[in-house]
Order: sequence, then structure tokens, then C-alpha cells
Amino acid sequence: MANLKVVMILPTYNERDNIGHIIDALQAQFRHMSHDMHILVVDDSSPDGTADIVRQKQAGGSNANVHLLMGQKAGLGAAYIRGMSHAMDKLHADAVFEMDADFSHKPEDVPRLMAALDQGADFVIGSRYVKGGSIPKEWGLLRRMNSLGGNIVGRYVAGLYKIHDCTAGFRAIKTSLLRKIVFDDLRVQGYAFQVALLHKAVSLGATIKEVPVDFIDRTEGESKLGISDIIEFILNAWWIRLHSSKTFIKFAIVGSSGVVVNLGVFTLLLQANVNKYLASPISIEASIITNFLLNNYWTFRWRKSADHVRIKGLKFNMVSLVSLAVSYSTFVLLSMLFPATPPEIHQLVGIAPAMFINYFLNSYWTFKH
Ligand code: GDD
Repeated sequence: MANLKVVMILPTYNERDNIGHIIDALQAQFRHMSHDMHILVVDDSSPDGTADIVRQKQAGGSNANVHLLMGQKAGLGAAYIRGMSHAMDKLHADAVFEMDADFSHKPEDVPRLMAALDQGADFVIGSRYVKGGSIPKEWGLLRRMNSLGGNIVGRYVAGLYKIHDCTAGFRAIKTSLLRKIVFDDLRVQGYAFQVALLHKAVSLGATIKEVPVDFIDRTEGESKLGISDIIEFILNAWWIRLHSSKTFIKFAIVGSSGVVVNLGVFTLLLQANVNKYLASPISIEASIITNFLLNNYWTFRWRKSADHVRIKGLKFNMVSLVSLAVSYSTFVLLSMLFPATPPEIHQLVGIAPAMFINYFLNSYWTFKH
């Protein structure tokens, strides 16, 4: 494999006690590697003076391959996006690494990840959850649950079923792949970036390889993962789910046709002087029937459910009752709260929560694989 220019991106926020040592440890690894290896520290103006340590390293003659990119604190994902853009546009990198600056990832593992890139992978994951990889024994229940939960959400909500460690932060990626990705489309700022980028790579058909690594608990400084990162992570996984699922798109199309049926029947009944409180459930039921037929014979046609069609029909009706109740109670509530607003608006707003509940119950229960 030809020599590549490789930029190792180290995002830092208050890593004064780690950054100098990790730069030294990486430089020691680079001596045994044939590629043109660089380090790019992406620091968010850390108040502890992390950047000063990097500048001191740069001043030492043998560190011409150490680069520093400063910015304002906007999250781990935002730092990686800045770093990757800089590595591609200004440093003309052929490949980049993501790596924590706190020794959670072992510098000795860098050559193994690089070898996997050399062997043809586009995206290499330093994985804790494949055979040979590990998480720290010292991790408490909460940290284990957090990591496990993140991976379950990444795999089963965002749909990264084949990946064992989708939240890993130790990865090597070819820039030929990164150049196909519009970072703004990922719409993430924090730790959700790991899953968002990986999902994009998978959907572009990239060759992904997981290499086992041991994740080491940091001894200096502390984790920056906050509650807002967890919320963004979960929301992002659901966003991916909803936007990448052909089934959901079909369901949304069917749902839109249901809206037309619902409002069409409702308008006709009002014109025929039917009481609005009776016209509403009749129109909802009419749309449920058309939705059922279209979803059963089109949206979920390929699902190989073990249930007999009669059982599926029964389940669908039970789910429909739940969504009917949700839609109707929303309608009644809005009619009471905003009597001056046209009833068509109340009816329309009532459709939204009902459709959401309808999709998830039908997808995970009625038409489950
Ligand atoms: N520039 C910048 N800006 N760097 C940041 C920021 C930020 O907002 N937040 C964190 N970092 C840096 C830290 O200084 C450290 O070098 C690295 O990113 C990882 O941050 P930690 O806060 O130590 O991460 P962690 O141990 O909780 O999470 C690790 O494991 C996760 C999976 O369990 C990371 O590897 C994550 O990427 C990974 O998803």
C-alpha cells in the first residue's frame, strides 16, 4: 500500500494533564509506521491551558507533524467535524483517526487499526464489543449500562445491526469516504456524532471493519459526557430510524392518504348536518380502515410475521382502537380548550399523535418480524 498522509484527530477539552504525554506516546508509535503520520489537536479553548502544552510541543524541533486547531466549545461532534474538515481541506489527509486524548485508547493499537485500513477497509472501528476487545473492569453499573444502552440504541434504533461497537470513539477513516459526506446533514453536535457518521458510512456502502481494543479508564481529568449529549444521542438515533426506513416512508404515504380520507369524510358528514362529535369518530374509523388495507397489503407486505393474518387483523384493530382513543381525546380536548377554532383544525391536530402511536405499535407488534 502506498504511503498515506494520516491525520490523528485528538479533540480536547481540559486535557492539560494528558495531552503532552499522549503526543509523546503517539510519536513513539509513528517511528515504526511507514505512513506520513500527523497529530491534529482540536481544542475548544480549554480554560486549563491545554493548548499551551500543545504549543510547547510544537516549539520542540521534532514535532513538525503536530497541528493545533482552536475554536469555541460546541461539543465533541462539532470538534470532530472541524478537525476532519481541516484535515481534508488544509492538511490534504488521505485518512484520519478519531482518538480520545486521555489514554482511554491505547497508542499501541494505532498500527493495528492502520493495518486494517491498508488491507482495504474504508472505516475501521476500535471495538470493545468484539472477541478480544474489552471495557474497563473498574466501570460501575451506571457506566456499563450507559455504554451498553448506547450500543443497543445505535444497533436497534438507528439500524446499525451488524456493528458491535457503534459508539466507539477510536476509529480510522479514509477521506475518500469522508468527502462523500456532507457534515451539515448529520445535524449533530455532541457524542451522537459517532453513530451519525457511522450510519452515513454504512448507507454509502463503505467497507467497515471492527478491530478488538481494550478501552482503558482515564486516570487524569474527567469525562465530558453530559445529559444533553444523551438526549441528543437518543433523538438522533430515532431521527435516523425515521428518515432511513423505507417502511416508515411507505407508512407516512399511507398515513397521508388516511388524512385525506379522514378530513374528506368529516367534511362530507358536517355538510350532511351530522353532529361534529359523532362525525369525528366516524371519519377517524374510515381512515383507519383504509390505512389498514394499504399497510397490510403494501407497507408491511414483506414482513414474515409468524402470526396468522387473522391474528394480525385482530392486533391491527386493537392498535387502531388505541389510536382512535388518542385521536378522539385530542379532538375533544382541543374543542373544549379552543372552542372558537374551526373543528377541522382540532381533527387535523388529533391525527398526529395517533399516527405516531399507530406506526410504532403496528411495526413492533402487529407486523413484527
Ligand atoms: N474539543 C472538544 N470539545 N473535545 C471534547 C469535547 C468538546 O466539547 N468533549 C469531549 N472532548 C474530548 C475530551 O477532552 C477527550 O479527549 C475526548 O473528547 C473524549 O471525551 P471524554 O469525555 O473523555 O469521553 P468519554 O470517555 O465519556 O467517552 C468515550 O467513550 C464513548 C463511548 O463509550 C469517547 O471515546 C466517546 O467518543 C465514545 O462515544
